[in-house]
Amino acid sequence: MDYQISVAGSDIAFRCEETETVLDAAERVGYAIPYSCRKGVCSTCEAGVIAGTASSSVQGRIEGPAEQVLLCCLCPTADLTIAPRRIEKREPAARKTLDMTVYRVTQPAADVSILQLRLPTGVRAKFRAGQYLQIELDDGSRRNYSMANPPHESDSVQLHVRHVPGGRFSEGMLRGLDKGHKLRVELPFGEFSLQEASTKPAILIATGTGFAPIKSIVEDAIKRKLDRPLYLYWGARRLEDLYLRELAEKWANSGRLHFVPVLSDPQREWSGRCGFVHEAVLEDFGSLDGYQVYACGNPSMTSAAHATFTQAGLAEDDFFSDAFVHTDQAA
Ligand SMILES: Cc1cc2nc3c(=O)[nH]c(=O)nc-3n(C[C@H](O)[C@H](O)[C@H](O)COP(=O)(O)OP(=O)(O)OC[C@H]3O[C@@H](n4cnc5c(N)ncnc54)[C@H](O)[C@@H]3O)c2cc1C
Ligand code: FES
Repeated sequence: MDYQISVAGSDIAFRCEETETVLDAAERVGYAIPYSCRKGVCSTCEAGVIAGTASSSVQGRIEGPAEQVLLCCLCPTADLTIAPRRIEKREPAARKTLDMTVYRVTQPAADVSILQLRLPTGVRAKFRAGQYLQIELDDGSRRNYSMANPPHESDSVQLHVRHVPGGRFSEGMLRGLDKGHKLRVELPFGEFSLQEASTKPAILIATGTGFAPIKSIVEDAIKRKLDRPLYLYWGARRLEDLYLRELAEKWANSGRLHFVPVLSDPQREWSGRCGFVHEAVLEDFGSLDGYQVYACGNPSMTSAAHATFTQAGLAEDDFFSDAFVHTDQAA
């Protein structure tokens, strides 16, 4: 059985199976709605339900009118009228499931590994800078990792994985991975990409391995000679946690962007910026009216950045984030 999903204030309408999420159905017919985790954790896909009833795997029964409904977990039980934050026409997602081969694992910091995966011969990865992939684990569960390479390097992918204590993938499987191992991967996912239509200066903020999609975005912007001011703020506890600091400094020295490293617990002599990375941005810019912000990494940072920046004049539509949430984090 399927139902009609109508988008309030527009003539957009599409069909959605009762077993399908509204987010999946929208993508299937070529509409992009903002999302990040697809697991009911990050709130990026929040929307209003104006009318109709539905069932949510994380919020239970929904009856319109209702606010803050997560479209990634919502299956209709009647025709629905929804009010997403944004919806735009997009080519239907051409996702591929592939067996990729590990060809290099390096460890640039005590708790970060860089994993290089090669695609099958003759196959190219098609994605936008800033998107992520899903690795299928042997128990069938999946983990999300952002591509750190730019899209034009399409015969392989580079992932930056932070070791989470007790983590099934990031400590368990990763430790046993060696050259030649195969990983089943699906890509691409995500809406965390530089908005092409805007010429506003972009402030890119990362904590830890949140640097991965930012690296892809910056290298893509350099390759395509995008003429748009870029400011990169990268936060970590200590200097050694900024595991590719020389690369960010190289971008800055070539005049392509402004780079500000921010340490929350420097421990050694450090004459640079200290504190929380989003606070350093606020100190430097004061008002964020007229900017776009792309924040990625620790969910506490992305939500603090969203709350404080929108108070400091940033338009709601000019904030984009990928919060590296995990499955047991409550919505
Ligand atoms: C859109 C998206 C993109 C992502 N991209 C990246 C990326 O590029 N690089 C990257 O390193 N990670 C990324 N993540 C996080 C990643 O998907 C995994 O959640 C993370 O690596 C943990 O997986 P695991 O199997 O090692 O741990 P699990 O086995 O899932 O968890 C083990 C235990 O650790 C806890 N835990 C898991 N993650 C964290 C955490 N971050 N902080 C504190 N406790 C935690 C869990 O609650 C659990 O108790 C991304 C997440 C999302 C939603
Ligand atoms: S994408 Fe729906 S809650 Fe994260």
